[in-house]
Amino acid sequence: MCADVSRIELAPGYSISHVILGLWQLSGGHGPVDEEKVFEDLRRMVGAGLTTFDCADIYTGVEELIGRFLKRYRPQSLSGELPEIQIHTKYVPDLEALPTLSREYTEAVVDRSLRRLDVECLDLVQFHWWDFDIPGHVEAVSHLVEAQEAGKIRHLAVTNYDAKHLLEILQAGVRIVSNQVQYSVLDRRPEGYLVELAQEYGFQLLCYGTVAGGFLSDRYLGKEAPQEPLENRSLTKYRLIIEEFGGWDLFQDLLHKLSGIADQHGVGIAETAIRHIMQKQAVAGVIVGARSGAHLERLMQLYGFELDERDSAEIDEVLSRAQGPVGPVFGLERNRTGEHGRIMKHDLNRVRSE
Ligand SMILES: NC(=O)c1ccc[n+]([C@@H]2O[C@H](COP(=O)([O-])OP(=O)(O)OC[C@H]3O[C@@H](n4cnc5c(N)ncnc54)[C@H](OP(=O)(O)O)[C@@H]3O)[C@@H](O)[C@H]2O)c1
Repeated sequence: MCADVSRIELAPGYSISHVILGLWQLSGGHGPVDEEKVFEDLRRMVGAGLTTFDCADIYTGVEELIGRFLKRYRPQSLSGELPEIQIHTKYVPDLEALPTLSREYTEAVVDRSLRRLDVECLDLVQFHWWDFDIPGHVEAVSHLVEAQEAGKIRHLAVTNYDAKHLLEILQAGVRIVSNQVQYSVLDRRPEGYLVELAQEYGFQLLCYGTVAGGFLSDRYLGKEAPQEPLENRSLTKYRLIIEEFGGWDLFQDLLHKLSGIADQHGVGIAETAIRHIMQKQAVAGVIVGARSGAHLERLMQLYGFELDERDSAEIDEVLSRAQGPVGPVFGLERNRTGEHGRIMKHDLNRVRSE
C-alpha cells in the first residue's frame, strides 16, 4: 500500500490537496462555461477530496465565479458536509504597470480579489513579475507583505520565479511558501538550483503543465502531430514545449514508454505523467486543468499507485534523448520576441479600469 498522497502541509497549519484544480480553463478560450454544470463538477471534485483551487486575478471571470461557488457551498462546508476549500490566487501586475508599480496598485488588486472571492482573507497569493530587467519586484513583494500583516493574505507565494530572482526575495527576509512553475516529464527546467533552493529555504513547488494541456494522455498516443489552429491556448503553448523537447517523434517515443508503464499500473498515460512529477523532490502539489469533472475518476487513481525505480529508469532513457527545454523556469516564456513569449498576454489585469 502506498503512502497517503491526498493531502500535504504547505505551511504549518495549512494543508492542501496534493492534486490542485487549475481553473484557468474556465476563463474563456477552452469552450463555453455553464455555471451550474461547473458548480456541480466542482462540488463533486471537492467532495472527493480535491479541495484546493488555483485561480488568478488575470483569469477573466474566475475569481468571481469561485466567489459565487463559495457562497453557495459555504453552508455545506460549515456543516462539515463538504470539506474546507483552499483558494490560491495570483497577483500578476500588467507589464506596462511594472515601472511605476505602487503600494496602492498592489493594494487595489488584493482588495479586488477579496471582493471577487467574497472572503476576508486570501489563503495564498502567488506573485508574478513579467520582466526582471525592470527593477522593483522585491519592493512589490514588500507591499504584499504589508497586506499580509493587515490580515488580508494568509500565505505568500510566487509563480514562474527562477532561482536567482526568488533568492532576492528570500534574502529580503520574506517567507515564501511555494513557487508555482511548469514542471512535467517534458519540461524539467525546475530541476537543479531551484529545487536546491526550495530545500534550503523550505518552500515547495506547485506544478502546472503535468499533462501538457492533455498532450500527455492516451488521446495522442500513435497520432500524427495536430495541425494549427489547435483547439485551445493550452495546447498551443505545450505544442511549443514538445518542439523544445525534441519534436513529435521523440514525444511519441515518450508516450509509448509511458503507456507501457501505465498498463502495468492499470492507469492511463496522464496519471503516469502526473505521478512522475508528484514523486519529485520539493513538489507539494500538481495543478491539473479542470475544465470539467470528466477526469475525476482517473485523477483519483493518482492516490492508489506509485512509480518505482524501474519505471523511472525507463522514462529516463527517453529523457536522455531530449534536447530541452533548457534555461531557467519561464526563461523562454519571458522573452517577448520569442515564440513562447509572443503568445503570452501581458495586460489582463487592467486594475485601473475597474
Ligand atoms: N502560473 C502560470 O503561469 C500558469 C500557467 C498555466 C497554467 N497554470 C495553472 O495550471 C492549471 C493547469 O493548466 P495547464 O495549462 O497546465 O493544463 P494541464 O493541466 O496541463 O492540462 C489540462 C487539460 O488536460 C486534460 N486532462 C486533464 N486531466 C486529464 C486526464 N487525467 N487524462 C487526460 N486528459 C486530462 C484536460 O483536457 P480536456 O478538458 O480537453 O479533456 C484539461 O483541460 C491552470 O488552470 C492554471 O491554474 C498556471
